[in-house]
Amino acid sequence: MTDLTIRPITDEEYPAFVKAFMDGFAEDIPADDFPSYIRTNLPPELTLAAFDGDDIVGTFGGLDLTLTVPGGAQVPMEGTTVVTVFPTHRRMGLMKRMMHMHLDNAVEAGKPLAGLWASESGIYERFGYGIATYCDAIKMDGRKVAFRDEIEVDRVRRIPVEGASEILGPIYDERQRETPGMWARSDGWWYDILADLDWMKNGRTKLRIVVHDGPDGPDGYALYRQKGGDSDDWHDNGTVHVLEVIANTPRATASLWSYLTNIDLSPNVKYNNFPVDDDLGPMLKEGRRIQRVFKHEALYVRILDVIAALEARTYQHDGEILIGLKDSFRPHTAGTYRLTSEGGVGRCAEVDETPDVTMDVEVLGAIYLGGPGAFGYAAASRIQGAPEAIDRLNRLFRTAREPWCNWVF
Ligand SMILES: CC(C)(COP(=O)(O)OP(=O)(O)OC[C@H]1O[C@@H](n2cnc3c(N)ncnc32)[C@H](O)[C@@H]1OP(=O)(O)O)[C@@H](O)C(=O)NCCC(=O)NCCS
Repeated sequence: MTDLTIRPITDEEYPAFVKAFMDGFAEDIPADDFPSYIRTNLPPELTLAAFDGDDIVGTFGGLDLTLTVPGGAQVPMEGTTVVTVFPTHRRMGLMKRMMHMHLDNAVEAGKPLAGLWASESGIYERFGYGIATYCDAIKMDGRKVAFRDEIEVDRVRRIPVEGASEILGPIYDERQRETPGMWARSDGWWYDILADLDWMKNGRTKLRIVVHDGPDGPDGYALYRQKGGDSDDWHDNGTVHVLEVIANTPRATASLWSYLTNIDLSPNVKYNNFPVDDDLGPMLKEGRRIQRVFKHEALYVRILDVIAALEARTYQHDGEILIGLKDSFRPHTAGTYRLTSEGGVGRCAEVDETPDVTMDVEVLGAIYLGGPGAFGYAAASRIQGAPEAIDRLNRLFRTAREPWCNWVF
């Protein structure tokens, strides 16, 4: 083993970089022109690779994302992706070194937040990332799903994948701007989502898209694939694999889910990233027909600039709290911060006073978007403070609705 160096890759090294991270995720590089597909959102200058001599043995990617926070502000977020280290070089501190460089780059670029989806929980809290949003993996038997009598549904229409982003983009943007936890989609991301490469099918059909038209134009859509049933069951046990449902009105929500649960020969409906406080359940005669198979971690948030992050979001209550923050991975983020909320607007400053509550930076990341409240973390001794202060913290940070991040990056 020679000296291990870490640097961004060059353009020529891109195919080797992609091969390396696919290897890290136990996959071979697909036959499609995968490197140029990945390159759309991850240009070489946003990568890091660990080299052992000329060989890439570790990979890391940064994504330029913008996140909606409570109140609707659009905050720059460094997305963290394709984190792998070869088994031959594991537990030598390579990931940790790349993480330091990655977060330094994000701070230098002025990003108050970093975020990721984790393949394994247990890795990222040590770097200051907290679980800020959750999703439910659900399944339904469409034959048993019935809408309440007063719920009206419309027919939806199929559209081709080619050119679809022109219709889907504005619908997504409207929802994204008002939903904490969702990130803005550039043209590059629409290319990524609609590319529909062969390897993405995984034994299922190509991408299918339906759109709901409201009085003022398209206001909802669903992306899905199907898998036909087998002949032993007369082909009638197929599955609808939902990839995304974005609905900006209750009628669009009902119409799209009514469509998805009424496709002949495909009664099994599955979706991994269903919101935890959804609007669909109350529309059904029996809400329990949405079977919540498991609740899983979605977006992890890492706060890099405490003052910018806390001032970017709004608060539902007026009040003040002194937060003592610990950060072993980036110690200069630690300190005591006074957060004051007046009329929903937050003001934050670093102060030299005794904090009301203390916590590690990953806990602040977890409660930042208003999802998991403070009480569970207090019960686990991960927030320390008097019961009154924990209650105040919880009232300040919680939001009326749960944040939602519906797409993995
Ligand atoms: C996860 C992975 C990137 C770790 O790389 P690595 O270079 O071995 O990690 P490091 O040596 O830098 O470890 C840094 C710290 O994280 C810990 N850690 C590493 N992998 C971990 C894991 N899977 N679970 C829990 N802790 C882990 C280490 O014990 C170490 O802890 P310490 O700082 O207390 O000593 C590597 O094992 C891998 O490629 N796994 C497969 C792909 C994957 O899961 N990637 C994550 C994508 S989201």
